[in-house]
Amino acid sequence: MSDFNATVEPTKTGFAVCGYEKIEYDFEFLDGVFQIPNPQLAASYTTWGRCLAIMDVNIYNLYGEQIEKYFEHYEIELKTHRTMIGEKAKSMDTMLSIVDSMVEFGVYRKEPVLVVGGGLVTDVAGFACATYRRNTNYIRIPTTVIGLIDASVSIKVAVNYGDYKNRLGAYHAPIKTFLDFSFLRTLPEAQIRNGFAELIKISSCAHKGTLDLLDEFCEEIISTAFGRLGNPHAPVRAAADKICRAGIYEMLRLETPNLHEIMLDRVIAYGHTWSPTHELVPDPPLRHGHAISIDMAYSATLSHLSGHLSKADHLRLLNLFSRAGLAMDHASFDEQLLAQATVAILKTRNGKLRAAVPVSPMGVCTFLNDVTHDDMCAALKYHKDLMKQFPRDGAGLDAYVDSSDTGYTLEGEPIEAMIQKLGEESCPRSALQPSEPAREMLTQATGLSAQA
Ligand SMILES: NC(=O)c1ccc[n+]([C@@H]2O[C@H](COP(=O)([O-])OP(=O)(O)OC[C@H]3O[C@@H](n4cnc5c(N)ncnc54)[C@H](O)[C@@H]3O)[C@@H](O)[C@H]2O)c1
Ligand SMILES: [Zn+2]
Repeated sequence: MSDFNATVEPTKTGFAVCGYEKIEYDFEFLDGVFQIPNPQLAASYTTWGRCLAIMDVNIYNLYGEQIEKYFEHYEIELKTHRTMIGEKAKSMDTMLSIVDSMVEFGVYRKEPVLVVGGGLVTDVAGFACATYRRNTNYIRIPTTVIGLIDASVSIKVAVNYGDYKNRLGAYHAPIKTFLDFSFLRTLPEAQIRNGFAELIKISSCAHKGTLDLLDEFCEEIISTAFGRLGNPHAPVRAAADKICRAGIYEMLRLETPNLHEIMLDRVIAYGHTWSPTHELVPDPPLRHGHAISIDMAYSATLSHLSGHLSKADHLRLLNLFSRAGLAMDHASFDEQLLAQATVAILKTRNGKLRAAVPVSPMGVCTFLNDVTHDDMCAALKYHKDLMKQFPRDGAGLDAYVDSSDTGYTLEGEPIEAMIQKLGEESCPRSALQPSEPAREMLTQATGLSAQA
């Protein structure tokens, strides 16, 4: 929620306006946000008596019944808009389909829209809320690790425009974010690992205690979905909670004074120097977590060779990526890519490299600026030789995007393939058009009418 405070002064040639915007939003840790004994979420809707919820269709399929019972119990009428947003559909069209539901529902100016899902849903629905009546309130419930510790910590919302990722967007804070880690019990392991990479990023550069915990519990945290799956030992759950709490806190502490990203030396940009160019180069593209891990591992080597990171800390960090199944190198991460990616990042960072790299003792970072192309290439050669000592030669597990990232999966199958299969069965000539049964299936799954 934001509040604008401004003064207006006449000047010789006109008027000068000077204003400050106060932004307030909070986060609540609450496992079981949709469990009836927890009234916190319902409390935001009792005055309205109704709620429009925009949610990921996979979340609806897994938790829809529970969500409906929750609102029924509190006598709040629930209307759901179920979306299937893969990276390809992170578009204006998808955003406008959410706006259609907001218009149909007749959202009041202060009435908060509820947004439930991973970073894709919270980014796109958050953008719809930013533009609807120029500013509509919303409440976020992230359901992926990336969502919980990254996308829903920031106030950035966006859609892709053509090939440009997150090119159209806004800074729009929700009124509240509920952090419910129990959703992670159903999240596929590859998605858990993706988020784990962002936690290595923040801890190695900003919080040593968290890095120590990631190191101690790495495998258990991934296999038990942050202590929410199976019967993990109590210390695993406690460590996972401490890690996430500290990770979110550090992210907020570092980024809230810089909400609009005006300051360009950013600790949280560790691993995000060369990866933005590299991520989409392999075919299929790398998962974000693996692309940034390659960048982070290489940056650590650069830091070691330039005397900032000790040999022991360097190897400790590389071992952690390896144990987590995260990639540390790729054939396409080569000299040419480094040159191309450096040109691109210099533009974004106002002519300076500003490569955040961890230093010894870990838990802090420095920014490298004066690195020549020759230095980069020498470090790359050293890095690639070093990779031969590691399992899989430094390659990651499930490192490439699948349809759940690029397109969409419904009950584990890519939606495009399901449509095509059903289309072919009923009408072989128009295999790309959803057939009648396919349309029906989509309508049932999403609550929307699928277009032919
Ligand atoms: N706004 C920001 O500052 C910011 C920061 C980081 C990432 N992002 C954006 O986030 C997006 C990636 O988000 P993501 O990694 O959360 O992916 P996502 O939202 O696509 O979710 C990944 C997959 O997991 C499924 N899923 C979600 N929650 C689930 C659960 N609890 N159980 C089972 N399945 C579940 C989804 O249906 C999807 O198939 C990117 O578009 C990226 O640009 C934004
Ligand atoms: Zn990232």
